[in-house]
Amino acid sequence: MRARRASFTISAAAPNGFPPEEVPEVAFAGRSNVGKSSLINSLVGQAGLARTSRTPGRTQLLNWFAVDPPTGDSIAFVDLPGYGYAKVSKKTRAEWQPLIEAYLGDRGVLRAVVLLVDARRGAEGEEQDLAAWLVDREIEVIPVLTKVDKLPKSKRKPAGMAMSRALGIRRNPVLFSAETGDGQDDLWRAILRAVSR
Ligand code: GTP
Ligand code: MG
Repeated sequence: MRARRASFTISAAAPNGFPPEEVPEVAFAGRSNVGKSSLINSLVGQAGLARTSRTPGRTQLLNWFAVDPPTGDSIAFVDLPGYGYAKVSKKTRAEWQPLIEAYLGDRGVLRAVVLLVDARRGAEGEEQDLAAWLVDREIEVIPVLTKVDKLPKSKRKPAGMAMSRALGIRRNPVLFSAETGDGQDDLWRAILRAVSR
């Protein structure tokens, strides 16, 4: 499955730049380098989409994409700023957190947050904090373990179970690889279910 059509809409650095709430939205959250852009590109079947819209300093921006899913009405994907880059200070975290929370905490059209965790790193403090924050607000979390092609097949399911445990959520993550296409249909199905609710 892949999107029928997708295009970049707008970037925003602050809540006053968020576009009007017009269609159901699915947000993508994860630490820097976890594979967010690659995952969005592979869901929509356009190698350069999430990257095309990237300009220097964009890490602190939210990026909207208009998407016609495999079936059903138009939706939007929202690429959230990558957080927790190993070398950045608490200061950077203090900057992204209010912006992400301003979006996640007050977006009526938000249907789910796809929470990405790198298969080789597992869930760490920031992912745990974010998952707990979302669960608290009853926002649907779609957990995804990325780059599973880097793990032998026998280690993937155990890594997924460890991720659920670490995040304190019951749902098993989608085991995803942008390299091989693993998990793509599972993830689309989860997204379509979430936006049709
Ligand atoms: P930032 O926007 O910088 O925060 O990163 P991102 O989360 O958007 O990650 P991006 O998609 O740019 O991928 C980061 C690196 O991981 C790139 O070198 C990708 O080629 C690689 N990568 C992404 N997905 C996969 C995957 O499924 N498998 C493998 N092996 N590598 C991947
Ligand atoms: Mg990116």
